[in-house]
Amino acid sequence: MSNPSIDNLMHEERRFPPTKTFSQNAIATAGLYEEAKADRLAFWAKTSRELLHWHKPFTQTLDWSNPPFARWFADGELNVAYNCLDRHVLDGNGDRIAIHWEGEPGDSRSISYAELTAEVKQAANLLTGLGIVAGDTVAIYLPNVPEAAVAMLAVARIGAIHSVVFGGFSAESLRSRIDDAGAKLVITADGGWRKGKVSALKPVVDEALALEKDFPHSVRNVLVLRRGENDVDWVDGRDLWWHEQLEGVSFEHEAVAFEAEHPLFLLYTSGTTGKPKGILHSSGGYLTQVAFTHKNVFDLHPETDVYWCTADVGWITGHSYSIYGPLANGATSVIYEGTPDSPHPGRWWEIIQKYGVSLFYTAPTAIRSFMKLGREIPDAFDLSSIRVLGSVGEPINPEAWIWYRDVIGAGTAPIVDTWWQTETGAMMVAALPGVTILKPGSAQVPLPGISIDVLDEAGHPVPPGGGGFLVVTEPWPAMLRGIWGDPERFVDTYWSKFADVPGGPKYFAGDGARLDEDKDIWLLGRVDDVMNVSGHRLSTAEIESALVSHPIVAEAAVVGAADETTGQAIVAFVILRADQADKHTPVEASALLRAHVAGEIGAIARPKRVVVVAELPKTRSGKIMRRLLQDVAEGRAIGDTTTLSDASVMQLISDGLTPPAS
Ligand code: WTA
Repeated sequence: MSNPSIDNLMHEERRFPPTKTFSQNAIATAGLYEEAKADRLAFWAKTSRELLHWHKPFTQTLDWSNPPFARWFADGELNVAYNCLDRHVLDGNGDRIAIHWEGEPGDSRSISYAELTAEVKQAANLLTGLGIVAGDTVAIYLPNVPEAAVAMLAVARIGAIHSVVFGGFSAESLRSRIDDAGAKLVITADGGWRKGKVSALKPVVDEALALEKDFPHSVRNVLVLRRGENDVDWVDGRDLWWHEQLEGVSFEHEAVAFEAEHPLFLLYTSGTTGKPKGILHSSGGYLTQVAFTHKNVFDLHPETDVYWCTADVGWITGHSYSIYGPLANGATSVIYEGTPDSPHPGRWWEIIQKYGVSLFYTAPTAIRSFMKLGREIPDAFDLSSIRVLGSVGEPINPEAWIWYRDVIGAGTAPIVDTWWQTETGAMMVAALPGVTILKPGSAQVPLPGISIDVLDEAGHPVPPGGGGFLVVTEPWPAMLRGIWGDPERFVDTYWSKFADVPGGPKYFAGDGARLDEDKDIWLLGRVDDVMNVSGHRLSTAEIESALVSHPIVAEAAVVGAADETTGQAIVAFVILRADQADKHTPVEASALLRAHVAGEIGAIARPKRVVVVAELPKTRSGKIMRRLLQDVAEGRAIGDTTTLSDASVMQLISDGLTPPAS
C-alpha cells in the first residue's frame, strides 16, 4: 500500500506539545495509558463504575466466550436516561444548563438539567401511553432541535430502541429504515429550518408510509412536533401533535433499570452493498466509553466548560458526542439547528462568541470551506473562550489543521483528531490534549483501553513505517453488538477478513492506515467501495442501484473523486439504454439523474457529476474497474489497463467525458 501523498504527510515535521498550564489542569494524564495497559478489563470496570450510576452493580466485565458477540458488564443494570439526567439533578446540579439551543432563525432556548429531566419524564409517560414498551423500535426523523434529545432519551428511558434517521434522507430511505427496524412509532416535525427556509419533514414521512411495498408498514402513530409551522396533511387516528398529546401528561416518571446489554439504538450506515446496515448499540458499554472519551479527549471540566459538537443528531457523532457523552458527564452543550452560513457566513463563530464555547468539535470539510471564505469572517468574532478543538469524519490535512489551530484556536488550542466509526460507537484513536505531542494530519494513538493494530494482507502487524489495514484487536465497550436482524452479515462484514489470525478474530474497520516511526497512526481512507463525502459514508453500490432504477439507465458505476472541500465527491458514469441515448442530451440526462439520486436517497447522495459514457471499463470477469474511473474523475493519467477486457474503453471515456456518438 504505497501512497506517495501519505509518505509526504508523514514527513510533516511540525510538533505541538501541550503547554505546561494545560497539562497541569488536564483531566487526563499519562497514567491512564499505564493503568489500562496493566489490566485493560480492570481499567474499564473502574472507569464504568466511576462515570456511571449502576442500579445493580456488575460483577463481570467482559464476556468474550462467543466472539465476535461481546457482552460487557452483562450482569449489571442501569438506566441510560437516568445516567444522563436524574442523577445530575439529585447531585445538586439541576440548575446547570444542559443544552443551549440555537434555532436557525435566531430563536433560542437554554434548558437546565432539571428542565430537561422533567421534559424527558413527561415524554416517557407519553410514549408509554402510546403503547410503546421496552424492546419496541421508534423511528425519529427530526431537525436538530432539543426535542430530538428529549425523544431519544425518553425512548431510552423506557427501554425502547431508537432509530434516528437524518432529516436529509428521502422518503424511500426513511421507509426502508422503518421497515427494517419494524418501527411502531415515527417521531417527526412539520419541518425544520435550513438555509433560511423551512424544509418539510412530515410530508416526507407521509410519502414514506404511502409507498407501495411487498408488505404493509409497521407504524401505528406519527407524533409531530410543531417547528416549521408549514402546512401539513393529516391522517386521523395515526397522526398526533406532540404539544397536544403532552397536555396533562405527568412530569413524574421513575426510571427502571435495564440489563447492560439491553439495546439502546439502531443507526443505519452505508456498507459495500446496496442495503444500509442497522448498526446495533447497547447500553452499559456504550455509555461507559462515550462518557470516558468525551471527558478525557475534550478535557471536560463540566462546571465551567461550554461544549459544542456541530454534528446533526442524525449521525453517530450527534448521538455519542451531542447527546449521550456530554449529558452522561453533566456537561453544558450547544445544539444548533441550521447551516453554518445562515443567515451570514459567520454564524458559527457568532454562536461560539454568544455562549462562550470552550470545547468545539467539527469536521475537516467544514474547516476547509471556512478556509476558502477567508479568516476575516471568524476574526470578526471573539473566539477567546476556545480551549480545545476536535476533528472527526475524515483525515484532516495538515494545512487545514494549522488553519484551525491558528484562526479558531488563537494559535494555542490543542487539536484532537478523533478516529472512530458508527460501528465503534465511540472514539478509538485520538490524542489526549494534556499529554500527547500533536502532529498535524495524524490521528496518532489508540485511546487508553483500546487495542489497535495495522496488519498486512496476510494478517501480520506492519512495522513502524509500514502501511496496511486498520484493525481493532480486542473487544471494546462501545462496540456494535451486531447488524439488526442479520448476524451473518455482521460476521462477514467486520470479522471475516482477519478471522484466522493469532489471538482470535480482529475487527476490520474498512480503513487503510500507516504507522510512522513513532508508531503514530495516519489514516488513509476507505479501502472498500465506500466513499467519504463531507465526513459522511456513502456506498458506491447504493448510489449505483439508485441510478439503474431510473428507466433511462442501463448501467452505472460510481466513484469517489478527491475534492478540495468535501474530501471526496461523487462522480457517476452511466450508460444509457440504447433506445434512450438519442432522446436526452448528456446535460439533460445528467440533471435528471442527479435529481433522481437525491430523490431516492437524499440530497447528500446527489452526484457532483454524472458522465454519460458508451462503455465501462471491466475486467475479463466483468468487474468494473473503479480505480480507472477514479483516475479519469480526478483528471490523472490513467493507470494500468492490462487487465481490462477491452483497453480501448478508457480512451473513449477520457476522450469524451462526453456522450457517445450513437
Ligand atoms: C472516516 C464518523 C480519518 C473513516 C465518526 C471511518 C476518519 C469513517 C476519521 C466512519 C478521522 C472518521 N480520520 N478518517 N479522524 N474519523 N473517519 O461511521 O473512514 O460516519 O471508517 O463515523 O469515517 O464514518 P462514520
